[in-house]
Amino acid sequence: MTGTTPTRFLTGITPSGTPHLGNYAGMMRPAIAATHSSGVENFYFLADYHALIKTQDPARVHQSSLEIAASWLACGLNPDKVVFYRQSDIPEIPELTWFLTCVAGKGLLNRAHAYKAAQDKNHEAGRDSDDGVNAGLFMYPVLMAADILIFNAHQVPVGRDQIQHIEMARDIAASFNHLYGEHFVLPEAAIEEQVATLAGLDGRKMSKSYDNTIPLFTPPAQLKKLIASIVTDSRLPGEPKQTEGSALFQLYQAFASAEEVAAMRQAYADGIAWGDAKQRLFECIDREVAPMRQRYEYLMAHPQEVEAVLQAGAKRARALATPFVQRLREAVGLRSLASAASPGGKKAKASKAQQPSFKQYREADGKFYFKLLDSQGQLLCQSQGFDSPKEAGSAIAQLQSQGMAAWAALQPQLTLAAQRSQDELSAALAQLQQAD
Ligand code: TRP
Repeated sequence: MTGTTPTRFLTGITPSGTPHLGNYAGMMRPAIAATHSSGVENFYFLADYHALIKTQDPARVHQSSLEIAASWLACGLNPDKVVFYRQSDIPEIPELTWFLTCVAGKGLLNRAHAYKAAQDKNHEAGRDSDDGVNAGLFMYPVLMAADILIFNAHQVPVGRDQIQHIEMARDIAASFNHLYGEHFVLPEAAIEEQVATLAGLDGRKMSKSYDNTIPLFTPPAQLKKLIASIVTDSRLPGEPKQTEGSALFQLYQAFASAEEVAAMRQAYADGIAWGDAKQRLFECIDREVAPMRQRYEYLMAHPQEVEAVLQAGAKRARALATPFVQRLREAVGLRSLASAASPGGKKAKASKAQQPSFKQYREADGKFYFKLLDSQGQLLCQSQGFDSPKEAGSAIAQLQSQGMAAWAALQPQLTLAAQRSQDELSAALAQLQQAD
């Protein structure tokens, strides 16, 4: 609707293992394709602080960080188009984590699925409920909220298992905004409905935890061997075969063209031998993977090049994060003493009260509204309902940065309050622009 501000997408990848075909088809390939759309900004990062929650093996964290970064680059991620960085290179993230920790309800975190699952496991085993649970697991959603909020991302592409975390990030952001003013965009989960979930070697979902994966960049001979081990039924060559429920067919679909899939479907009906079907699958996967594998092997042999890409990404990310955290420090009261007010800090309070301010809220109709109050706290203008907090937030951002020009562009979504004039509005917006 508002159109001019790009939608910012952000997602993190925890480096705790070696990328497999399921990660590639389900996450990397669509994420890289998404970077080619216009009107979007993409932030992709290695969530290595998160990795420390799952694994305390330093060599594994280190190796996996390299493998994952090299994989993304090898798969065609263009670091000029995407802000690609490593979480632990952005010290503003742990700083923001603390600010958010202090506004996040402990009860909210008690309800996190990952934490509750760890507790349930302990209960079942008759252990103390927090046995072996580190506080990092408990704090996981706050760190993740900081990842997202530090760049004011609008959309967070994640798997379904992560939806609760995004909701928590919204809750925490709203609490902070309520206490300290409108600093954060309220993020939304972006769930890809038609993305492939690949079957693994045993027919269950391909996943590290089932130990049924095919590593993305395994050498061709190994790829062939793994494909040969995919479970099939015992139908003989010449016997018609079922595509439904066939892990092999499903994998093939994720890599083959529509015509190839149709031909394979026919071949199943005609009774193709499993060995031949597996050979076709191997050729089809290898066709896509081979050029990327070459690039991957090069990068793995030149880790300093990968490091340089991440450093450049961190620099771009910090150009945004550093001033933003400075603003947040001010907001929460971590300020230079040189600017301290006379008795009781009244001056600081008064100066806040003299600023016009935006207030965002949700009505019973489920829509997202905002209003602008003048420096006296009196209503100046009022928005209509927006479908998402992002749209409301971006309208506010436009008013803040462009003043009356944005007011005109945003008609008829905004209404001047009764008895108020455009001049008053214009003065308030100018005051906000100066304050920035
Ligand atoms: N928790 C995510 C996962 O396990 C990884 C992650 C960390 C993330 N921080 C994030 C994803 C921020 C999106 C946004 O998949």
